[in-house]
Amino acid sequence: MTSSPPANAAPTTARLFLGQLLSYVADPFTTPPEQAAQWERRGGIVVRGGRITATGNAETLRAAHPRAEVIDLGEALLSAGFVDAHVHYPQTGIIASWGKRLIDWLESYTFPEEARFGDPGHAGRIAALYLDLAQGAGITTMCSYGTIHPESVEAFFTEAEARGLRAAAGRTCMDRNAPDSLRDTARAAHDESAALIARWHGRGRLSYAITPRFAPTSSPEQMEALGALWAAHPGCLMQTHLSEQTEELAWVAELFPKARDYLDVYEGFGLLGPGAVMGHAIHLTARERARLAESGAAVAHCPTSNTFIGSGLCDVAGLRAGGVRLGLGTDTGGGSSFSMLRTMASAYEVAQLRGVALHPAQLWWLATVGGAQALRMEAHVGNLSPGMEADIVAIDLASTPAIAQRAARARTIWEALFPTIMMGDDRAIAAVVVGGERWTFPTS
Ligand code: GUN
Ligand code: ZN
Repeated sequence: MTSSPPANAAPTTARLFLGQLLSYVADPFTTPPEQAAQWERRGGIVVRGGRITATGNAETLRAAHPRAEVIDLGEALLSAGFVDAHVHYPQTGIIASWGKRLIDWLESYTFPEEARFGDPGHAGRIAALYLDLAQGAGITTMCSYGTIHPESVEAFFTEAEARGLRAAAGRTCMDRNAPDSLRDTARAAHDESAALIARWHGRGRLSYAITPRFAPTSSPEQMEALGALWAAHPGCLMQTHLSEQTEELAWVAELFPKARDYLDVYEGFGLLGPGAVMGHAIHLTARERARLAESGAAVAHCPTSNTFIGSGLCDVAGLRAGGVRLGLGTDTGGGSSFSMLRTMASAYEVAQLRGVALHPAQLWWLATVGGAQALRMEAHVGNLSPGMEADIVAIDLASTPAIAQRAARARTIWEALFPTIMMGDDRAIAAVVVGGERWTFPTS
């Protein structure tokens, strides 16, 4: 990956990024998708001091900003950077581990790897590696789990801050049903999370996500302590897993016999509300769906993980129709990819298996605006409009011969984009701009 030019050369100079432009003026799940999106054949984005100040037609913007530094990305499609609403950066090294379902997969692959993150050197190396891979895939905002070690969160935030990313993360809390070396207590979970909140939450572009791993690995005391912590810091996110695999549901019902359902377990401990981000959410009752929408919680749909670990087919269209905030998650390393393009492709395939064809404008929205909404960051990132932070991804719509030959037949932008959604990988990521001030050309 090459970097160019030096960051912050002259922060008040306007920059004008040129290319095709894709942004959203409405929600493509409630407005016809092609009306919800806005496409400019030859467009531009004016950036000053890290924020977008104008978007529109390239020539109009050039005339209005004659002294702006021009970064012409040619035929590339400029979009808001991707938002990954659910990822486990510590699982980078065990992605694509064979042959297990959720509980066995956690015990065989995940826990042994996570046990290494008390070592700040290991945590720092994997955080840097993960963030390079994510940025190379066009992801400019992510919400990551750490491990139970505060060092894992320190390492992640340190690396994210150095890159200028808007990112969230939290110390993963577990005080039962995990190996000795990965178990904490209700008190340690509360106090160590609180110390990380004090140090990192709201620092620059970083925010904290209170992180009980999932109901089976937290005692009632721990969930209560984390519910109290969230009540004391309502500006934090709260991330956990919900209704991913049928075996897990049965286990939760055994552990919490008084709860009405899985979601009710979290609600009972104050772990449901605006800013809650529920990973997976596949096997839901009608009550849970309604409650997710009413409570203002969000779902992170993780389709590559749900197929890879064999979890099931999340009802994206139904959740959106019910008014649930919804973004996409790679769920690396339960998910089988670092790529949001691959994640969109998987979301398309999963929806097809449920009898729904998601429009490319809906898939792209889920990977940008939807993710930002899920993380309550939609005022800052996820779209290209004046006032938003200038996180931009430039997409090459002809990045391989296979994609190029299909895109050459396209009659609309959606036909041109869909082959990249379905077949694209990091070769399609022509440039990644973070905060308008630093950019990389991953493929050059
Ligand atoms: N449920 C609890 N922990 C995890 C995890 O690390 N990955 C996935 N996919 N599901 C989980
Ligand atoms: Zn997960």
